[in-house]
Amino acid sequence: MRQLELDWLGGPAERRMRRRRPGIDDLPWGTLAAAGIAEADAAPVRASWTDGAFSEYASAAAFAALTTALLEAGAPVDLIAMAGDFVVDEMVHVELNARICAELGGAAPYLVDLEKVSPWVDPALPAIERAAELALQISCVGEALSVPVLAGSMRAARHPLTRAVLRRIVRDEGPHARLGWLVLDWAGDRIDRARLAGVARTRIGHYAPLWRCPDCAEGATMIRAVRRDIVAPLAARGITVRVDDLLGS
Ligand SMILES: [Fe+2]
Ligand SMILES: [Fe+2]
Repeated sequence: MRQLELDWLGGPAERRMRRRRPGIDDLPWGTLAAAGIAEADAAPVRASWTDGAFSEYASAAAFAALTTALLEAGAPVDLIAMAGDFVVDEMVHVELNARICAELGGAAPYLVDLEKVSPWVDPALPAIERAAELALQISCVGEALSVPVLAGSMRAARHPLTRAVLRRIVRDEGPHARLGWLVLDWAGDRIDRARLAGVARTRIGHYAPLWRCPDCAEGATMIRAVRRDIVAPLAARGITVRVDDLLGS
């Protein structure tokens, strides 16, 4: 484990990224730094944007792993391209989070092992099963639940720069949450639905702190999102997940 450090190359790599995802430099950069936030107030905010930078980085690794599984499974060309394109979206989100940290005085202490950043999936499974499992975990569950969390943060954001950054991130996350359903529909009845139901249940359980903490302002919203945006569409595809105990109801 070592401190999270992000590097930037510039030159042709930067120019290509900007051409593919324009508008990033137009955000009101410098205004948060200029606001001169006191160190005591900046510390918790830096911690949360540092955590954000790493979770976006992990999302990029996850979409890269999904892209590889889709390639190995011989998935449709445009579906594979969509998954690969989301890696670039997530790297833009990493940049946005990191630049907010920089405005606040730099990243908070944050230990990571990048060697283990990719999601683990049993390499003995056929590629289509690995693709379905990754799509379910990353997109159908992870991205579906990050949409309401980010939207809540965006509404709470007071500063124009943080609000603009969160708006940009939220805009991208909707399509990220839809990809998983496209993968499951393409895989059709070639995947083991009972196994995937277990995967989904475990994954939803990881997010329980979002609705179980005593001061979860968005708890009811999260529970609704689990039922409406994850459990119901999974059931419609023959993947039946029992979550009443996880949701505390
Ligand atoms: Fe993201
Ligand atoms: Fe995402």
